[in-house]
Amino acid sequence: MTVSGQTTAVPTPAAHAGEQAGQAWAAPVAEQTAQVLRPHAEDAFADELAALAAQDDRPRPPRWKLSPWAVATYLLGGTLPDGTVITPKYVGPRRIVEVAVTTLATDRALLLLGVPGTAKTWVSEHLAAAVSGDSTLLVQGTAGTPEEAIRYGWNYARLLAHGPSRDALVPSPVMRAMAEGATARIEELTRIPADVQDTLITILSEKTLPIPELGQEVQAVRGFNVIATANDRDRGVNDLSSALRRRFNTVVLPLPESVEAEVDIVSRRVEQIGRSLDLPPVPDGVDEIRRVVTVFRELRDGITADGRTRVKSPSGTLSTAEAISVVTNGLALAAHFGDGVLRPGDVAGGILGAVVRDPAADRVVWQEYLEAVVRERDGWTDFYRACREVTAA
Ligand SMILES: Nc1ncnc2c1ncn2[C@@H]1O[C@H](COP(=O)(O)OP(=O)(O)O)[C@@H](O)[C@H]1O
Ligand SMILES: [Mg+2]
Repeated sequence: MTVSGQTTAVPTPAAHAGEQAGQAWAAPVAEQTAQVLRPHAEDAFADELAALAAQDDRPRPPRWKLSPWAVATYLLGGTLPDGTVITPKYVGPRRIVEVAVTTLATDRALLLLGVPGTAKTWVSEHLAAAVSGDSTLLVQGTAGTPEEAIRYGWNYARLLAHGPSRDALVPSPVMRAMAEGATARIEELTRIPADVQDTLITILSEKTLPIPELGQEVQAVRGFNVIATANDRDRGVNDLSSALRRRFNTVVLPLPESVEAEVDIVSRRVEQIGRSLDLPPVPDGVDEIRRVVTVFRELRDGITADGRTRVKSPSGTLSTAEAISVVTNGLALAAHFGDGVLRPGDVAGGILGAVVRDPAADRVVWQEYLEAVVRERDGWTDFYRACREVTAA
């Protein structure tokens, strides 16, 4: 394997790890990673990334750790020539991933758009890990995100002692990504106030970040790009200016297209999360997972899976992410207080909590759905009883 990189201006842990090409990903993080509650993608999947890098003989864009093809394989899963299995991270249309990866190799930035829980953050993290070997150059967008979070700030002790200098400057993750030719991530871009968002325009169009205090600038090195995520529901909060939107290629992440696809996603993620929490595996839990997913989809879509009965939708979001957390909690209940097998009683409370966000309106919606749909369904008697029990309580 070869890495087309030089030493970079602003060092980071990942940059060090990447210096020694061949051993880069495989090496020493293992023990630390075992202790960390939630390792970064590049650490959690270091073995897969190393195997991909070793067997990837396609051309890599400047400073990319992998070719676009290998990045897509990392996200979608596959089997390498030597038999190494790459687990799927994103379950969804292949084309979406191909367009996203290709965008990162152009001079346009990538905007992942979708309703909550459609894996925008997840995909962004894995893309950054696979492309740059570092998913940590991250700006979390909020209404309070200041310009400094995107440009740079100052270490005031140094600033006062020695005046403005490169030493006193605190680079933002975006500035570091520019200097290193890496991927910067901006979460929830549309929550950031419009004038702060506009800081990105120069960065993305000129690929330059001026530092007027020093009469200097940082010019982005090849390999630099930005992945932003934005929530469909936030539309209108701080809508992107058209000038900024032009700098992005937008990729919309859809909700899973079928019950099967969603059950597959939930099972995989629950298994991964369960492993990190030392929960027992759930070979027998798939019936319960299917029920949780079915209930969430029906309430979300406002119609039953067979298309026969209209139901009302509750106020909260019932995404794949909520299903994952309901099942994970259920599994923990089953592990600690049951016999380790996931049963209706282990998920009923979680479902109620996810569905009934507004105690008055949502409770009515939920009760109607329980009586009209769940109660009548073949083979769902235990599930109905468990739900009734927690709802009445
Ligand atoms: N299509 C999918 N493929 C794989 N995982 C998914 C998918 N949809 C949702 N998830 C899971 O849902 C969880 C929440 O996703 P997240 O990235 O936080 O959502 P968002 O940022 O869109 O609100 C993640 O753990 C992710 O693994
Ligand atoms: Mg997110």
